[in-house]
Amino acid sequence: MAILKIARMGHPVLLAKALPVEDVAAPDIRFLLRDMAETLDDAGGVGLAAPQVFRSLRLFIYHVPAGRAGTDTGVPLTAVFNPVLTPLSEDMEMGWEGCLSIPGLRAAVPRHAHIRLRGLGADGKEIDKQVSGFEARIIQHETDHLDGLMYPMRMKDFRYFGFNEETERFPLELEAL
Ligand code: NI
Repeated sequence: MAILKIARMGHPVLLAKALPVEDVAAPDIRFLLRDMAETLDDAGGVGLAAPQVFRSLRLFIYHVPAGRAGTDTGVPLTAVFNPVLTPLSEDMEMGWEGCLSIPGLRAAVPRHAHIRLRGLGADGKEIDKQVSGFEARIIQHETDHLDGLMYPMRMKDFRYFGFNEETERFPLELEAL
């Protein structure tokens, strides 16, 4: 096990389109998953995509802590390989996001409120589920990393971009889109 270095915005690995994972059970992939889990735990985030640890592969892990908006029980640490997202409605929501590759900053970003997630889980079984709210936001953020997209590229209003401490001290009301 190892805590991996996290790429920061500006590194080209974060702008590349990642390649599909052919064999989720390959030893190299199992080790990568374990190291990503340890790295996420150490960094204290809610999601981590493989390109953020310099592996340009279509894989991310995420969890939703219990009590987060819209969830009572949270979502345990989950791996998703080769995700495919489909919006389930036109509804977009503004919400705050940070990124381990953009330390210290956060922004309010529009995301689809309801999505369908398809892909493969860590056990190689198919995932096909409908997701809303904060979990849907994380999944969209992490899937973007696999396509070379970072959250600032999704922003519509740069007033909602700032350092964590300042945006918490001076909270801005989020306007509807
Ligand atoms: Ni991120």
